[in-house]
Amino acid sequence: MKSKSVLQGVPVYQPGKPLEEVKRELGLEEVIKLASNENPYGCSPSVWESLTEEQAHLFMYPEGGAPQLRQELASHLNVSTDRILFGNGSDEIVQMIARTYLEPGYEAVMADITFPRYKTQTLIEGCTPVEVPMVEGTHDLDAMARAVNDHTRIVWVCNPNNPTGTIISHDALVSFLDRLPDHVLVVVDEAYQEYVTDPSYPDTLSLVEKDPRVVVLRTFSKIYGLAAFRIGYAVASPGIVDEMNRVREPFNANRLAQRAARAALADREFVENCRRENRRGIERIQAQLDEWGLSYFPAHGNFVMMDTEKPADDVFQCLLEKGMIVRSGAALGYPTHIRVTVGTPEQNQRFLQELAGCLHLPKPKEVA
Ligand SMILES: Cc1ncc(COP(=O)(O)O)c(C=O)c1O
Repeated sequence: MKSKSVLQGVPVYQPGKPLEEVKRELGLEEVIKLASNENPYGCSPSVWESLTEEQAHLFMYPEGGAPQLRQELASHLNVSTDRILFGNGSDEIVQMIARTYLEPGYEAVMADITFPRYKTQTLIEGCTPVEVPMVEGTHDLDAMARAVNDHTRIVWVCNPNNPTGTIISHDALVSFLDRLPDHVLVVVDEAYQEYVTDPSYPDTLSLVEKDPRVVVLRTFSKIYGLAAFRIGYAVASPGIVDEMNRVREPFNANRLAQRAARAALADREFVENCRRENRRGIERIQAQLDEWGLSYFPAHGNFVMMDTEKPADDVFQCLLEKGMIVRSGAALGYPTHIRVTVGTPEQNQRFLQELAGCLHLPKPKEVA
């Protein structure tokens, strides 16, 4: 049996190395995983209670449209309910967008290097990914606008960008939109939006209201700490939501995920604390890198992409043997960088200590 020919060029997704696998392979008792931009504080404790309440209903399919979560999220975001579409993670929404809008012969424009699922889903639909080199780890919006032509259907903007962590500003996004024709959809992936503290960051929901070409993607996997439940969402024009609902699997947002997301959304204090601690963590890590004279991309999500000035795979392996899982930049197109998720203060300190050992740098400062 031969698969679709386009699949020849499609890679299998490479996730961060799982914690249990590393413990088994290296015989280590304690392993810290800072490889998949998960929340080191877990999720709101109220999620557990909500799951207990949901136990009695697990024999029933969920409501496909997630009406209660939809209502609560719409009111939290101050958008109308018909603008929201849920996915089995925002990964699934990336797939739904490609399935809804791409046909062979079309093109999708994206940064080189960015979240890999945009390219994968474009290839699966038999379309051409147009990858536009970044400038200093940041989307080059001028070059991306120039790459748009009559065949372009989607422009992907990852903000903050994974893996570099850089952002583009509201003004830059608005002038980019002004330059694009009506036949393209601009998908702004804001998986790390809740972590951003920079005031220039776009207010994309206001742009969605005004401009039917804009789709925003967000997720409960990151600051809300619900990665295992698989739930994310898009905010778009009601027309786009209606079109994407035609390709959506009937029960794609599962019952436990809907319930967990409602509880997580309501706990604003948890989110606020995670944002604050994450920012402190970034500052701690960046200050130490400055002291060592190592460069990094300005971090706006919950991860820092840094240049170790050594082959990234070697640094990755050295850290792994010390019980720290990070992401090597080698497979991501940055041969000497590693991407490290911001952990708890203790995890960050431990990471810096182990990194110093691997790179033969002076010991990091102790923190109070
Ligand atoms: C930029 C970006 N978009 C989307 C996702 C997918 O998130 P989800 O868990 O909601 O599928 C990730 C996950 O790491 C991401 O980094």
